[in-house]
Amino acid sequence: MKRTIKDLKNIQDKRVLLRCDFNVPLDKYGDILDATRITASIPTIKYLNDQNCKLIICSHLGRPKGYDKFLSLFPVAVCLMKYFPNKVKFCPKVVGDEVKRDIAKMKSGDILVLENLRFDPREEENDPTFVKELASYADIYVDDAFGVAHRKHASNYGVALKLPNAIGFLIEKELNVFEEAFKNPKKPFVAIFGGAKVKDKLLLIKNIIGKADTVLIGGGMAYTFLLAEGINIGKSIVDLELVDEAKKILKEARGAGMKVVLPVDHVALKYDRVIKTNNLDADMVGLDIGKKTIKLFAEEIKHAGQIVWNGPLGKYEDKRFKMGTFMVAKAVAKSSAYSIVGGGDSVGAINTLGFANKIDHLSTGGGASMKLMEGKTLPAIEVIDTL
Ligand code: 3PG
Repeated sequence: MKRTIKDLKNIQDKRVLLRCDFNVPLDKYGDILDATRITASIPTIKYLNDQNCKLIICSHLGRPKGYDKFLSLFPVAVCLMKYFPNKVKFCPKVVGDEVKRDIAKMKSGDILVLENLRFDPREEENDPTFVKELASYADIYVDDAFGVAHRKHASNYGVALKLPNAIGFLIEKELNVFEEAFKNPKKPFVAIFGGAKVKDKLLLIKNIIGKADTVLIGGGMAYTFLLAEGINIGKSIVDLELVDEAKKILKEARGAGMKVVLPVDHVALKYDRVIKTNNLDADMVGLDIGKKTIKLFAEEIKHAGQIVWNGPLGKYEDKRFKMGTFMVAKAVAKSSAYSIVGGGDSVGAINTLGFANKIDHLSTGGGASMKLMEGKTLPAIEVIDTL
């Protein structure tokens, strides 16, 4: 069992470096479009603040190449100010004298938010000099950044090796939810997978064989499976190198008694026209699941005991092709099954439709939750001490 913040003793007045995943979507004015990842870490921040620590919070935001004023963590610090009035200060640097001065000035109960870690390229390189500098800021390290736990970066891997460490409440909950869902699934267990790249999801499907009762496959990845079944896919996205692998997985899954449901109709583009069709001809590109498929999927979802959903069922970012994802989101929200949703677009669809409170667990990690579902460990969690 990993050490959690509740296991840390005598942390009053100590300097705690807290790694969060505040990689939130921002609009062009720097306004936060979805604060889920911030609110999800509030319990950890509140607990550490209640313990009267000097709390230094760091995070990445986006994938900047050097400094980028549109990816500053300042809006995040402003958001935190609302939760912790008169306690939060923003430091516009990640390393250097200004950071050291701000930390030296901190009183117990203060919260200091550092600038975007990725403005320094050494963060992603897990560079020892950067690790050393970050570690020098604090007496204790706490990781609450589940969304980035599949990465081995300076602030979530290197630093953990240098300081007494623990996981926060957000990570603790994510780990418990995924462990329980895959060890003791409520039956029937229905998995829903979408997204463009089949390569990203093959291991995931392999890992749920023998655990899930039904898998519903949509999105761009479905076309590689449809081709493996000998079905025409026109000009739809496909990974030709993985067709044989997809065929094997389908055989293995069905052999193990798992029901695999693939799209039976599509919303497609033929030249510039949007077409609804059961059969994709040579000039069509399938971009969303059609009405019949939505009905088939909804029926399985309705009878599920547990649902795990990762990835959009169509080209969700184009409004002409988002109906499949929306209707599946609606079906999952309506279902009485225990539901877990992960991945930016699936979580985005749930939030857009205002269904967040109808889902049992909205994961804050896309890539990280996928790794857990593949049965893999996460390096940033591995490095945290066990009890
Ligand atoms: C995410 O949004 O999935 C995490 O914050 C990780 O971001 P990254 O893929 O840029 O490392």
